[in-house]
Amino acid sequence: MTITTEEQLEKLKAIGRICAITRDAMASAMRPGMTTLELDEIGAKLLAEHGALSAPMVSYDFPGTTCISVNEEIAHGIPGPRVLHEGDLVNIDVSAVKDGVFADCGASFVLGEGDKRVVNLCRDGKKAMWAGINAVKAGAPLADVGDAIGKFAKKGGYTLIRNLASHGVGDSLHDEPGEIATWPDRSERRRMTNGLVFTIEPFLSLGGKMSDHKSDDDDWTLVSRPSAPCVQYEHTVVATPRGAVVVTLSA
Ligand code: CO
Ligand code: CO
Repeated sequence: MTITTEEQLEKLKAIGRICAITRDAMASAMRPGMTTLELDEIGAKLLAEHGALSAPMVSYDFPGTTCISVNEEIAHGIPGPRVLHEGDLVNIDVSAVKDGVFADCGASFVLGEGDKRVVNLCRDGKKAMWAGINAVKAGAPLADVGDAIGKFAKKGGYTLIRNLASHGVGDSLHDEPGEIATWPDRSERRRMTNGLVFTIEPFLSLGGKMSDHKSDDDDWTLVSRPSAPCVQYEHTVVATPRGAVVVTLSA
């Protein structure tokens, strides 16, 4: 989507805020002993209260309202009977639609006390996302986003998952201009146009390089290859001449 009217921007901000509130409420409700389905139900209730629908459900028949990925799972985890434990690394990705406008956000959390390396990975995963967001500017090369994230990852000795991209969003969950590499990509020649709406969602890892299906009988859940802790932080942004407008903040 490319924002051309104030009304479009207001609708995007409204759904962006709903996604962010839902993600944060789910994160604060997480408790050891809870199943990922119970956590998803909290998200489902909140989206419904705000008059929003789950984007993966309406777009792809995803078998859940939100994506909840635990430990070895890095994305598109299906809410279900899996029980959460102290120290688990949990990614909550909430995307939803209201009034025909889609927004998408996600974040990783350590439940309670966790491995120090994983806690630091979360801290730096968030910084990697912000490095990308800070590179957003209408008129600038789109490759600046992946370059900024790549530079940050390299400095910290981290790897990036290179087949899970950011994407346009707004009129649909995965919208024009298609996939956007959140890693250095020398083939990227496009520029950020004014009002372009897209996600910034690097997957920062302690060694992971590619995502792969967890098992043959699950079309959704992705794990990291090689297997390594991996975090994802995601915001939906609008490119403007003054930089990014982040629409998936909860406050
Ligand atoms: Co997402
Ligand atoms: Co996304």
